[in-house]
Amino acid sequence: MQYPFAGKVALITGGASGIGKAIAKRFVQNGASVVIADLCVEATIDADWKQAGTSLQFVRVDVRREADLLDAVRFAKATFGGLDILVNSAGIFPRATIQNTTAELWDKIMEVNLKGVYHACRAAIPEIIERGGGAIINIGSLNAFGGTPDLFAYSTSKGGVVTLTVNLARSLAKHKIRVNCVHPGWVLTEGEKEVQKQGGRPDNWYETEGEKLPLGRIQTPEDIAPCVLFLASDEASQITGQSLAVDGGLGFHY
Ligand SMILES: NC(=O)c1ccc[n+]([C@@H]2O[C@H](COP(=O)([O-])OP(=O)(O)OC[C@H]3O[C@@H](n4cnc5c(N)ncnc54)[C@H](O)[C@@H]3O)[C@@H](O)[C@H]2O)c1
Repeated sequence: MQYPFAGKVALITGGASGIGKAIAKRFVQNGASVVIADLCVEATIDADWKQAGTSLQFVRVDVRREADLLDAVRFAKATFGGLDILVNSAGIFPRATIQNTTAELWDKIMEVNLKGVYHACRAAIPEIIERGGGAIINIGSLNAFGGTPDLFAYSTSKGGVVTLTVNLARSLAKHKIRVNCVHPGWVLTEGEKEVQKQGGRPDNWYETEGEKLPLGRIQTPEDIAPCVLFLASDEASQITGQSLAVDGGLGFHY
């Protein structure tokens, strides 16, 4: 165990897959009770999860719906007694340039990636205040700082997450709630595999593309999770409002 999270309760949106899933596993391994709030709960039934026992619970949530997040927070309180940590990892990343971004696609991306974070924070904050403080960690993206042309709306949504992070950090400091943002680079997740499959990429494409990156490989979800646990821990008790890139050096390209 790296951090003593025993007695702490974490709610993780998007925790059924990819980066959120790795974060959820790490929290459980470090003694936390975890509620996964995701659209897709059936994806979670694997051997790794079963070992977690009752300290891991799943709630079906669409982050676009405020009522779902309020229900998830109520569930965390009823099941584990409160809430200390919120991780916002739910996200979608369809590729589209501005010309290919219809108003419907724009709205969908904003609703999940930005409004979903707002809904989750708004639902969670009163409970975290009641615990006397805690931590919110948003999963952003390097694309927040410009991004590639075919991630136009996505990049803009993640820029919004950065501003949300800093704004909330300021307003919540008096409640001892720290708010930070972790920016992954390029991570091989279920979601990323699906996007690349739709783009017709061959299976070994990630390996060859990864070799061209500064640190020589595509990232794994497990590369991102330790940084999130650190930011949620007491070791980071003086860190708030920050953007921390865990990007394998990919940011050098921007
Ligand atoms: N994979 C990468 O290279 C990469 C890079 C930078 C940032 N990110 C960010 O990391 C986060 C996680 O991405 P990932 O690669 O693990 O993706 P993923 O698709 O593997 O996992 C995302 C999870 O979010 C859930 N989700 C999607 N829409 C939802 C909704 N409306 N309500 C509730 N849950 C919903 C999905 O069901 C899924 O379980 C995202 O915010 C993404 O933007 C990913």
